[in-house]
Amino acid sequence: MGPYGSVVELIGNTPLVRLRRIPPPGAQIYVKLEYMNPTGSHKDRIALYMVREAERRGLLRPGGVVVEASSGNTAISVAWLASQLGYKAVIVVEEGASPAKVSVIKALGAEVVFAPRVPFDHPEHPVRVAERLAEERGGVFLNQFENEANARAHCETTAAELYSQLGGWPDVFVMGIGTAGTIAGVSKFFKERGAKTRIVGVVPRGSPIATGRPTLGEAIEGLATSTVSPIYERYSGLIDALVEVDYRRAYETMLRLAKEEGVLGGLSTGANVAAALEVAGESGSGVAATLAPDSMFRYTHLLGGLA
Ligand SMILES: Cc1ncc(COP(=O)(O)O)c(C=O)c1O
Repeated sequence: MGPYGSVVELIGNTPLVRLRRIPPPGAQIYVKLEYMNPTGSHKDRIALYMVREAERRGLLRPGGVVVEASSGNTAISVAWLASQLGYKAVIVVEEGASPAKVSVIKALGAEVVFAPRVPFDHPEHPVRVAERLAEERGGVFLNQFENEANARAHCETTAAELYSQLGGWPDVFVMGIGTAGTIAGVSKFFKERGAKTRIVGVVPRGSPIATGRPTLGEAIEGLATSTVSPIYERYSGLIDALVEVDYRRAYETMLRLAKEEGVLGGLSTGANVAAALEVAGESGSGVAATLAPDSMFRYTHLLGGLA
């Protein structure tokens, strides 16, 4: 438990907790509390892996610029890590991201540029804007949607931790798909080692992964509402099933989790657990594992109720 020489050493090794009240009889649902990472989300893991990879490749020198496109959590992780490691962060944030996240990114000293919520191939999509900015500023675009270091972070850390915490493989792993880095990395670790774990992806209702068309799905912050990431395309063969979750179900499950289980996860945690409950209901018993990617504190502006 420390003392630690740097907050960067606090990334990962997050606790895993079993839900006691919500699951149906016979079902075991475990949630890995990623909000216990230093900036409050699983994205600390990938920020570290992507920055270290850029350094290793000689793309990032002391005082250099890192650019990232993110709805918020990766932005916070990158802004935080950049300030710790002596880099300047430029962050492209999708319009509509939670104001609390944007304030934190700015407080960490990063420059914030807004971009609209448009389909992936649109020239004003955050990824396209970030590409242009990296070019103009001579910086490195980390590009979590494409960067293999994103999936590798979850393969080498999140998945390995889950295996050791559970003392074996879960029957089901459930995870919301944003960049798909988490589901890709975890499934890779599991499947390469012969696990029979069923991998279930969670997507917002009406989103392109759900419909197979360039649609705009319901907004569940952090999940792929308008995009199909290159990482998803690379690894979709490892995903056994998809569950569509709408905003209301994600929101209501987030509240139930907080009240009944004391797990103060965010909206995508609500989506993950709603999907885990659906799958547990179908298959009866077994061990399901999922993540609480971030906490309810990132969404206090939504807590007044459903519109
Ligand atoms: C709150 C939240 N949940 C889930 C995800 C999805 O994780 P991944 O990008 O690894 O697919 C993200 C990604 O941004 C997120 O911010």
